[in-house]
Amino acid sequence: MTICITATGLHVPKDKITNEELVVAFNAYVDNYNTTHAQAIQAGEKVALQHSSAEFIQKASGIKSRYVIDKKGILDPEIMAPIFPARKIGEELSVMAQMGVQALQQALDNAGLKADELDGIICAGSNFQRAYPAIAIEIQHAIGMVGGFAFDMNVACSAATFGIAQAVGNIKMGLAKKIAIVNVEIMSAQLNWRNRDSHFIFGDIAAATIIEELDTPKGYEIVDCQLFTQFSTNITQQYGFMDRSESLSAGEQVMHEGMVEPVYDKLFLQEGRKVFREVCPKVSEIITTHLAKNHIPTDKVKRLWLHQANINMIDLILRTVMGKDADKSIAPISIYEYGNTSSASPMVAFHEHQDGVQSGDLGVICSFGAGYSIGSVIVKKV
Ligand SMILES: CC(C)(COP(=O)(O)OP(=O)(O)OC[C@H]1O[C@@H](n2cnc3c(N)ncnc32)[C@H](O)[C@@H]1OP(=O)(O)O)[C@@H](O)C(=O)NCCC(=O)NCCS
Repeated sequence: MTICITATGLHVPKDKITNEELVVAFNAYVDNYNTTHAQAIQAGEKVALQHSSAEFIQKASGIKSRYVIDKKGILDPEIMAPIFPARKIGEELSVMAQMGVQALQQALDNAGLKADELDGIICAGSNFQRAYPAIAIEIQHAIGMVGGFAFDMNVACSAATFGIAQAVGNIKMGLAKKIAIVNVEIMSAQLNWRNRDSHFIFGDIAAATIIEELDTPKGYEIVDCQLFTQFSTNITQQYGFMDRSESLSAGEQVMHEGMVEPVYDKLFLQEGRKVFREVCPKVSEIITTHLAKNHIPTDKVKRLWLHQANINMIDLILRTVMGKDADKSIAPISIYEYGNTSSASPMVAFHEHQDGVQSGDLGVICSFGAGYSIGSVIVKKV
């Protein structure tokens, strides 16, 4: 039995924000804040906010732009959040399902499959716009897949590789022969666009990956998967269904004055430096030991499709896995244009950077992120 990645698809929102546009909006917000709170700042009761800069963003992260589902709200210094109307469940497709369907349809077309040939859909991501019914089941319904199963799973930025591993496991158990992984990321709604340390990091996107059990392999054979997690509070997004009760428990003041602030505190937050320091060596170790377990010398690896969190992380992981003189084209970059697209990001790199990969070449798809969570999938071009 050979299990293969036979196709991928991508849905990119239309709105693009460059660093320069983002920084103009952010700095206008900072100026408004500092003017409004001038007295409190002078009295030492509040701290003046500092400007962001496009040069810093590109140097620290590599990011030049990102795509989002609503640019207008994000770039309004009075709002700084995407705005989209609520959709009535069952009558209109949810935003996540709509993006997922578009990516999945492209992947199905690329695989030469019809939706009802799928046996399973796993919607794997870093967040879901509701708890249930599952977004994956809505996608299953909308795309016209009859029978089979669909479910959501959340492993933050690592959800794509963990999803691939689940698909492989499900196929090996005989639950399915063809499974689609759909990574829908609406990071713009999870991000605190007023936080100077992280307002530039993420973008929205949807990616889809078709995994099939085949007698005649095609695409990329999945050689082996390895998963790793270790608890860390250095990356969090805690907004959730307990918030109402926690606000009530905190009393009147929080209910009347503080609803907005606790919400902002619970959006994406990270200790970027610590994440960088702790995650990079672990990712390199996981990839290296995973390759060794499969008796693959690192110089046989032609491509590393890595999670696109930060250009410097990608560089460091490439050098520690492949050697300090490693050819940079081994680890392709999509972060310049898309930013960090969370779980979708290694699949965006995989989707866009297969040129030059020959039959028999080995590659690794690797994700890493909150949890911490790290996933490594070794693939071989058919
Ligand atoms: C987030 C990240 C890009 C920040 O880069 P960094 O080099 O660590 O930057 P720091 O936060 O240490 O800040 C460095 C300096 O730039 C300043 N700075 C921070 N944000 C800034 C901004 N938007 N504009 C201008 N300057 C900024 C800081 O105040 C600091 O100034 P100081 O040296 O005078 O104190 C980097 O830590 C990172 O990529 N970490 C990996 C984590 C990650 O990407 N996770 C995503 C989820 S997987």
